Amino acid sequence: METRSAAQTEAAGAALAAEISPGDLVIVSGEVGAGKTTLIRGAARALGVVEPVTSPTFTIGRRYAGGRLPISHLDLYRLEDMEGEDPALLDDYLGPDGVAFVEWPAAGAERLGRPALEVRLAHAGEERRTIEVVD
Ligand SMILES: Nc1ncnc2c1ncn2[C@@H]1O[C@H](COP(=O)(O)OP(=O)(O)OP(=O)(O)O)[C@@H](O)[C@H]1O
Ligand SMILES: [Mg+2]
Repeated sequence: METRSAAQTEAAGAALAAEISPGDLVIVSGEVGAGKTTLIRGAARALGVVEPVTSPTFTIGRRYAGGRLPISHLDLYRLEDMEGEDPALLDDYLGPDGVAFVEWPAAGAERLGRPALEVRLAHAGEERRTIEVVD
């Protein structure tokens, strides 16, 4: 599909939330500024998160309780690879009961397991973005 505003991409995230089950890993890929965090915000809102959903900056991820299920949002952009990292680094964010959304998953690929869904966003000019869901 194609969206023409950040609000539309949030709405696409909300629609996606309806497809999510406990324990799901959702990879959200696309270039810088493609709208990954925006889409995850919409999904988290639809799952009942009321606090602001922002990009993890000084940490690899954030966790949101208080929604319909525990939600994690990981952004592994700055994590070059897991070499020298505690192998359990990601475990705090992954669990059988919650859903984990992951931006820039490459560094964690080996530990993340198989995604239930992958969402691919791409710039399509100005405020347009294409969104593709692969399962
Ligand atoms: N159709 C659209 N969908 C999503 N975001 C849009 C759209 N049009 C404009 N934007 C703007 O593009 C930016 C997308 O930022 P966002 O943080 O969601 O991207 P990102 O893919 O997570 O980037 P990064 O890789 O840096 O984490 C926001 O400033 C948003 O307002
Ligand atoms: Mg982001």
